[in-house]
Amino acid sequence: MASITSSLFLFSSTILFLLLSFPYSDAQTAPPLVTGLSYTFYKSTCPNLESIIKTQLQTAFKTNIGLAAALLRVHFHDCFVQGCDGSVLLDGSASGPSEKSAPPNLTLRKAAFDAINSLRDAIEKACGRVVSCADITALAARDSVALSGGPNYKVPLGRRDGATFATVNDTLKFLPSPTSNVSVLLSALALNNLDVNDLVALSGGHTIGIGHCTSFENRLFPARDSNMDQTFFKNLRLTCPALNTTNTTNLDLRTPNTFDNKYYVDLMNRQGLFTSDQDLYIDSRTKPIVTGFAVNQSLFYEKFAFSMVKMGMLKVLTGTSGQIRANCSAKNPGTVGDAWSVVDLEVGSGGAAAAY
Ligand code: HEM
Ligand SMILES: *[C@@H]1O[C@H](CO)[C@@H](O)[C@H](O)[C@H]1NC(C)=O
Ligand SMILES: *[C@@H]1O[C@H](CO)[C@@H](O)[C@H](O)[C@H]1NC(C)=O
Ligand SMILES: *[C@@H]1O[C@H](CO)[C@@H](O)[C@H](O)[C@H]1NC(C)=O
Ligand SMILES: *[C@@H]1O[C@H](CO)[C@@H](O)[C@H](O)[C@H]1NC(C)=O
Ligand SMILES: *[C@@H]1O[C@H](CO)[C@@H](O)[C@H](O)[C@H]1NC(C)=O
Ligand SMILES: *[C@@H]1O[C@H](CO)[C@@H](O)[C@H](O)[C@H]1NC(C)=O
Ligand SMILES: *[C@@H]1O[C@H](CO)[C@@H](O)[C@H](O)[C@H]1NC(C)=O
Repeated sequence: MASITSSLFLFSSTILFLLLSFPYSDAQTAPPLVTGLSYTFYKSTCPNLESIIKTQLQTAFKTNIGLAAALLRVHFHDCFVQGCDGSVLLDGSASGPSEKSAPPNLTLRKAAFDAINSLRDAIEKACGRVVSCADITALAARDSVALSGGPNYKVPLGRRDGATFATVNDTLKFLPSPTSNVSVLLSALALNNLDVNDLVALSGGHTIGIGHCTSFENRLFPARDSNMDQTFFKNLRLTCPALNTTNTTNLDLRTPNTFDNKYYVDLMNRQGLFTSDQDLYIDSRTKPIVTGFAVNQSLFYEKFAFSMVKMGMLKVLTGTSGQIRANCSAKNPGTVGDAWSVVDLEVGSGGAAAAY
């Protein structure tokens, strides 16, 4: 009897330990949808939307696998600064196309903007002008993940495009620098109501793509960051022999073009590229989450998909707000600043009048 009781105790305390050491209790696989978005938004207006995007990207990635990383990052930048409204795509945006004054650590690849415009054109041919550039960006990011070997999650749709781009100040406020520690990252993400689990899961986006020397040279000069593996450091110094060179290196040393959990394995081996990566395995608030993802890829996929859907709903424009752009790089002709067309305003007040 005593042995049954003690083994029961052992058993239940093991479960308790697992529950406590496991940073998640959330069984939900997707966050609740914000009003105005749905998984079936274009079901009747553009039934082939998702297959058009997937097919076109599949072809494009065959000649440029880096495009997948570039598209994923564009969606992140779009959502973090002023919401997922496609504003990052506008010519003149602080991190958008042809912005000469953008800090080097914000530079997004031109190929991504070109790909989004080309997707938009194909979609307009098939369905007319019904799909927003913001939705195309969200779907392209999902397919970039899925076609690189990652999870294939469902994307809520119905975003509309904004007509103003974010200021440089806002861009710098909402997009943390790669030299940030976890405290700074958490404060930055909190501005968008994202938490510590979102931080660690979304940082897993760095399992694909590249970074410029200027984004991590703070860890190479004047001397090796003591949190960086020696061999990794020596190799990075060959790529970046001095301050301010223009070379790049892979973000994930192990499997640079595959969307897997190896990024977290890198961190456990002190082979994270940016301070903002490596500190996730130093800070006690994030370290156990990193370990959890490094040992369980399915868990990472599940949490990454959850946080991507959450990120994809930040401050979205829906309903009659915003517009459906004819050119993802420019607001529609006739749109004056934030003032929407008279037609949009009348649709709104017409609805209100009908309620009397
Ligand atoms: C948590 C804060 C984050 C910081 C500080 C950060 C910082 C950076 C920096 C500095 C680069 C390299 C830029 C360059 O040198 O060219 C980069 C690249 C990248 N980031 Fe992040 N990032 C963060 C979050 C995210 C998130 C949430 C995602 C997506 C889920 C993401 C996806 C990417 C991808 C895919 C690349 C490679 C882009 C390419 O190859 O063109 N990052 N990030
Ligand atoms: C942008 O930020 C800088 C420094 O934080 C500040 O000096 C400047 O006035 C800001 N500009 C605008 C337009 O808010
Ligand atoms: C980008 O780099 C500049 C100059 O190195 C720095 O002042 C800025 O804080 C960085 N910003 C981001 C978002 O990385
Ligand atoms: C994180 O960085 C900020 C800004 O550089 C600094 O003030 C703070 O002390 C750092 N926190 C830790 C825990 O290192
Ligand atoms: C990096 O750039 C320097 C010059 O800026 C060049 O000499 C060197 O070969 C480059 N290294 C790699 C690995 O591309
Ligand atoms: C870094 O190089 C760029 C040109 O590649 C130059 O405009 C900039 O002034 C340099 N910055 C420093 C700090 O040397
Ligand atoms: C890994 O995570 C998945 C998804 O949460 C879970 O179902 C599975 O039990 C975990 N596997 C292990 C070995 O812990
Ligand atoms: C889209 O807008 C950009 C920015 O104004 C412009 O440079 C480009 O020529 C436009 N594309 C088309 C097809 O009109």
